[in-house]
Amino acid sequence: MKSTSLLAAVPVALISFSQIVAAASSAQDHFASSFVEDNHHHDQDHGQHNQKPNFLVFLTDDQDRRMNSLDHLPLVKKYIRDEGTEFTNYYTTTAMCCPSRVSLWSGQFAHNHNVTDESAPHGSYTKFVSQKIDKNWLPTWLEDAGYSNNYIGKFINGVSPTLKQAPKGFDKHHWEPLIAPNIYTFYTPVFATNNGPLEPHTGVYQTDIISDKSIAILDGLAKNKTNPFLFVISPTAPHDEVWFVNGTTKFTPPVPAKRHEDLFKDAKAPRHPSFNPEVQDKVSWIGALPRLDESEVDRIDAIYRARLQSLQATDELVERIIKRLEHNGQLDNTYIVYTTDNGYHLGTHRMFSGKQTPYEEDTNIPFIIRGPGIAKGLKSNAVATHTHFPATVLTLAGLPVPEELDAYSIPVLENKAVYGKDAPTEAFAVEFWSAAMMENTTFTSNLNTYKSVRLIGQGYNLLYTVWCTGEREYYDLVKDPFQVKNIFKETKSTLLNRLDALLNVLRTCKGPTCRDPWSVIHPENKSIEEDNKKHGHHERGVHSLTDALNKKYDEFYADLPKFSFESCIQYYLSSNEHTIPVHTEL
Ligand SMILES: *[C@@H]1O[C@H](CO)[C@@H](O)[C@H](O)[C@H]1NC(C)=O
Ligand SMILES: *[C@@H]1O[C@H](CO)[C@@H](O)[C@H](O)[C@H]1NC(C)=O
Ligand SMILES: *[C@@H]1O[C@H](CO)[C@@H](O)[C@H](O)[C@H]1NC(C)=O
Ligand SMILES: *[C@@H]1O[C@H](CO)[C@@H](O)[C@H](O)[C@H]1NC(C)=O
Ligand SMILES: *[C@@H]1O[C@H](CO)[C@@H](O)[C@H](O)[C@H]1NC(C)=O
Repeated sequence: MKSTSLLAAVPVALISFSQIVAAASSAQDHFASSFVEDNHHHDQDHGQHNQKPNFLVFLTDDQDRRMNSLDHLPLVKKYIRDEGTEFTNYYTTTAMCCPSRVSLWSGQFAHNHNVTDESAPHGSYTKFVSQKIDKNWLPTWLEDAGYSNNYIGKFINGVSPTLKQAPKGFDKHHWEPLIAPNIYTFYTPVFATNNGPLEPHTGVYQTDIISDKSIAILDGLAKNKTNPFLFVISPTAPHDEVWFVNGTTKFTPPVPAKRHEDLFKDAKAPRHPSFNPEVQDKVSWIGALPRLDESEVDRIDAIYRARLQSLQATDELVERIIKRLEHNGQLDNTYIVYTTDNGYHLGTHRMFSGKQTPYEEDTNIPFIIRGPGIAKGLKSNAVATHTHFPATVLTLAGLPVPEELDAYSIPVLENKAVYGKDAPTEAFAVEFWSAAMMENTTFTSNLNTYKSVRLIGQGYNLLYTVWCTGEREYYDLVKDPFQVKNIFKETKSTLLNRLDALLNVLRTCKGPTCRDPWSVIHPENKSIEEDNKKHGHHERGVHSLTDALNKKYDEFYADLPKFSFESCIQYYLSSNEHTIPVHTEL
């Protein structure tokens, strides 16, 4: 049977570029109120029980994946990694705690929720409140479905006594955040329960008191037969200790519990090829950094040890909570997630310490899940981000997934390593608008505003970044997993043109256009698709880089304008982010 191929039939000059950008940013409006079933999950009833599952989330702070912190957590391994599935290609899309945590609960990229910094005016709890993120987000969707939501520990920066308002969805049952400015002081934590009076502590270790309080909350849920529940436990280790003194912020290494302060005496930050390299091939502000000297490297190793030590109480907390869930008969019906807000680097590309860059150390983070129907001891390479989290939880709970979410659910029940042509997600934006700083140093740079495409698919593993300075970086992580060599100049324009077009969609995408960015560039022709289906013809449109690289589109992509920033500013202003004329020399 002869049937027209979809690709052959669609005219090559498909749509204009302004249409692409406009479609990407307005698509949500067409779908805002509709709910759809997630395409990638059909199996909603995977239990013997009809009861909705509970969700328990361990959310740590600044925990790296690439500096091997997980290898030093034997109880997380025993109770979660060995009993569940670890997603090795899991990312934060903005490597900073406030934006990342807001993406985790809202399922939106930072360019959509616009909480882009860790302090006011562009970030922190005041910005979160003014953006009304909590009107419509995972906690309220769960609450509407009968969940009791409980939270203890760090929410985001700036939760303070003057801000009495708890986020909607967390305000009905148990809301017990750490209160600023004592969010990161390990032996003087301050809590407040359900907006009640401040409860300051002196001389008790933050993670340990969170552990005690969590046990009481769990027992309360069990005693009252409160089902189903969401329970978030968020201690701040291994984040640095932070002191706010006379209007300045001072970072010192994280403080471990006394019983752990002698551990890991010989541990050192991993000496990856990116560690304090002799040859530096990076965007100008990083490229200009001098090599770290011996005393700086010693301090880095000391911080590395302090981070591992400080996480040991978290490791113990995980065991204690899971044993209690089991004791209370809650374990079998509970999904347990272990993750963090963003990664962390030490000595990487000569940077002393911190997060905030588009590189793997900062963006690739732990995400492990165990629970009913989830494979044990599996490592999945399916690509996912914090924006995927709400859809994942809703799918596991058998609830509808709102169309406005920026990502599909993670294929947690597929029980295999899924990636490649048919994987739900191939590419996503990594974005940043704030100054870079190196914790425990006085260094800052205002040149750290950037947008990246991070793409992992069949035969590709790449990072393409446009910086606010106009500089561009391209790394091929298949050959260069540590992103040591920027090969932008040596890379074929046919490939870069595709990445520029993809970046232009991803940087303003919303909902469906984030989930399938190629469909904005190559809109599907429904009548051809129907025809193909009728004739059993499986040709699909363009849904991956491999599809887009078809030679027949070379000219089409060459004629699309490229993305550029106007200048380096530290917040998200649409008019600062635009395209430059076609064929501009880069
Ligand atoms: C994001 O918020 C900032 C203020 O923090 C505002 O100036 C800017 O216009 C907002 N950006 C968008 C795209 O709404
Ligand atoms: C159990 O539920 C009752 C009624 O809602 C509430 O007053 C009580 O605080 C709950 N107990 C615990 C331990 O959570
Ligand atoms: C903070 O500033 C006050 C007034 O200038 C000064 O007396 C005090 O010593 C400062 N505190 C610290 C810890 O620097
Ligand atoms: C770094 O941390 C140490 C404590 O471990 C502290 O003495 C020092 O002042 C800190 N340096 C900076 C620049 O914050
Ligand atoms: C879709 O394909 C049909 C059949 O080839 C054609 O008549 C129609 O114009 C196409 N529509 C678009 C929007 O390209």
